[in-house]
Amino acid sequence: MMVSELEDARTGHSGPGRQVVPFAAAPAEQLSAMPHDGGSVNGGEALRVADVSRSFGLVQALDRVSLSVNHGEVVALVGDNGAGKSTLVKVISGVITPDEGELYVNGERVAIRSPNDAADRGIRTIHQDLALADNLDVVENLFLGRELCRGVWPLRRVDFAAMRQRTTAVLAELGIGTISDIGVPVAQLSGGQRQTVAVARATLENCAILLLDEPTASLGLKEARHVLELVHRLRAQGTAMVIISHNMRQVFEVADRIVVLHLGKVGAVFRRADTTPQEVVKAIMGKAS
Ligand SMILES: Nc1ncnc2c1ncn2[C@@H]1O[C@H](COP(=O)(O)OP(=O)(O)OP(=O)(O)O)[C@@H](O)[C@H]1O
Ligand SMILES: [Mg+2]
Repeated sequence: MMVSELEDARTGHSGPGRQVVPFAAAPAEQLSAMPHDGGSVNGGEALRVADVSRSFGLVQALDRVSLSVNHGEVVALVGDNGAGKSTLVKVISGVITPDEGELYVNGERVAIRSPNDAADRGIRTIHQDLALADNLDVVENLFLGRELCRGVWPLRRVDFAAMRQRTTAVLAELGIGTISDIGVPVAQLSGGQRQTVAVARATLENCAILLLDEPTASLGLKEARHVLELVHRLRAQGTAMVIISHNMRQVFEVADRIVVLHLGKVGAVFRRADTTPQEVVKAIMGKAS
């Protein structure tokens, strides 16, 4: 299989022409000064899901789910196992199509029928079931389908040195020090290491909307902390994010709003500043507060 086919099949990013833009780091003082009062930083709706339903046979995974995320806002999507969280992320990222409902990006109704459609709309996703190509190494996974090139046609060549350099820089920016050899196939990495590669891949390019499905689930403490810092940094840059997590401490650290899914329906929506972990946990269990 060609690398580009692999790319389409696994992650949906398309074409060698995609520009790779490193994300800029926000200084630490800017992070601490960021508004975190439950409102959005930049305002303006980046993404809206309206009345989306999806069933698998007899299982109604999503039942008229609506939510919106503003630019510079982090929405935590929480709920029990099987509540429909990953299904919703897959609908937004074009992995599965909804039975009903609409998606809007920047206020415009969009049809997202494939991961490529989502990527074209500036949507990047870190899926729970990671989409890495096992036989490729860390560098190849990071740049799969968007390889850096140098020279002009007919002498245009993939620039392996630049990709290796950029990979090392991105891993350092993310504080990932546990991958000693970026040249080994990712099949040889641990679950946590693979997850850090997936996070690095999703953050390699600036994107308007980032969906993170349990990005810290199998990470060590240090790596999890770096991912959360990255979320803060991207919010400061105006990225709209949906993050799925079962970890209430993490949810309360990063989220501006918390959307609770219960049996495929939106059970409750909270502004982080106005709620408590106990109240959110109750909603997750389907109890009225
Ligand atoms: N491809 C599929 N085929 C059949 N059923 C599916 C499929 N994907 C999801 N489901 C079902 O849809 C429901 C929602 O699943 P989903 O993966 O969205 O849950 P989740 O909230 O992400 O759970 P978790 O916290 O365990 O990751 C579950 O009942 C699941 O079994
Ligand atoms: Mg899930």
